Amino acid sequence: MKHRTQVGIVGAGPAGLLLGHLLHLVGIDSVIVENRSREYVIDRVRAGVLEQGTVDLLCAMGVAEGLHARGLRHEGVYISFNGERHRIDMAELTAGKAITVYGQNEVVRDLIDARAETGRPLYFDAEDVGVDALDSEQPLIRFTHAGSQHEVRCDFIAGCDGFHGVCRPSVPEGVLEVFERVYPFGWLGILAEATPSCHELVYTHHERGFALFSMRSTTVTRLYLQVPPDEPIANWSDAAIWAEMLTRMTTSDGWAPNIGRITQKSVTPMRSFVAAPMRHARLFLVGDAAHIVPPTGAKGLNLAAADVVVLAVALNEFYRRGDAASLDRYSSVCLRRVWKAQRFSWWMTTLLHRLPDETAFDHQRQLADLDYLTTSRAAMTSLAEQYVGLPWEVALLSSTLGS
Ligand code: FAD
Ligand code: PHB
Repeated sequence: MKHRTQVGIVGAGPAGLLLGHLLHLVGIDSVIVENRSREYVIDRVRAGVLEQGTVDLLCAMGVAEGLHARGLRHEGVYISFNGERHRIDMAELTAGKAITVYGQNEVVRDLIDARAETGRPLYFDAEDVGVDALDSEQPLIRFTHAGSQHEVRCDFIAGCDGFHGVCRPSVPEGVLEVFERVYPFGWLGILAEATPSCHELVYTHHERGFALFSMRSTTVTRLYLQVPPDEPIANWSDAAIWAEMLTRMTTSDGWAPNIGRITQKSVTPMRSFVAAPMRHARLFLVGDAAHIVPPTGAKGLNLAAADVVVLAVALNEFYRRGDAASLDRYSSVCLRRVWKAQRFSWWMTTLLHRLPDETAFDHQRQLADLDYLTTSRAAMTSLAEQYVGLPWEVALLSSTLGS
């Protein structure tokens, strides 16, 4: 089967779905091709923190009904060390900005529903997905679906297929420069049926390693523990997980997470990664396909959303006015934000985790950094403005979306 579209989108994660819907709103055609099932994409447990700008984007796009109903707005965040929690009042330090806790799977579900309502194509369970003719005027996406072979001829392809996708490896050798740091630890994450015992997140520095208290709803707690990167999850019984969570997180005033039935557990390795430029000919790399951050700064999904806005605005200018200047600037505009988010995520990670080869000096410096962070208004303001999200690089398509 042969198809023709303006923008072919590989991947139906947050980046691909957001892009497809933004393009729909400005009247640009797209075909989305995803190699997993709808259920798999929705059930995958990942991010939870939306920056203010990501929330504003979802509202402007008209896909925020679930977010308004079930999202939890947090105006502060806690940093805990030496057994004490310190609150950083993000809203007060950023003139009213906040983050919203709303699961990535909820965002994805809302966007899949919105896509279905538009009637525009979204193929799940696509097999043998590949991109071709990247250097031509009409690049192609090929895939097999329900036994039939498909070929989508596109003006542009958006590689929204995550870190392990096919788009980035399809760029010819020598075009992309890769910057990478792999961390000597991972996160063991759990979901538990337990009422969150604190209404905001708690990032804990502990001598046994980092721990994070988060949530997904008023009845579900999400917790993470620093573990070795290749730690088999089978090594951790539920009882051992709770014992370690409580050891690391309990503070001297008696605060601790509530315990409940664990419904999901997994280990994620951590890396920082950037492939630049984020474009080759008519292929644009978007979100995790181009960059990965360690999750400590809660930036991954938000960076993907920021890339999408830059690309959608540029494509709109191209189709409305025949002006390719913004497409030509896509990579450099995105990379400025990407590198600032990389720096922030690396800083949060190295501030809060124990490094296997750290010296006593390193440890004391880390504690001094935490002391400074939680007592200096300037330092707290710096954390707050980055955590709620730096301003967007380009104005959202507000005039178009507002109409
Ligand atoms: P993905 O979500 O990876 O989506 C890519 C899609 O492409 C997937 O659906 C995949 O199945 C599909 N695909 C892959 N290969 C192919 C192929 N060959 N053909 C077709 N489709 C393909 N970020 C935050 O902002 N805040 C957080 O709090 C946060 N916490 C996190 C916690 C954890 C434990 C982890 C692992 C990540 C976290 N992140 C967080 C990061 C965030 O989840 C990612 O940055 C985000 O999913 C990136 O979206 P994406 O659409 O670019 O990529
Ligand atoms: C989450 O709730 O999954 C979460 C929160 C904050 C992070 C990372 C993940 O920094």
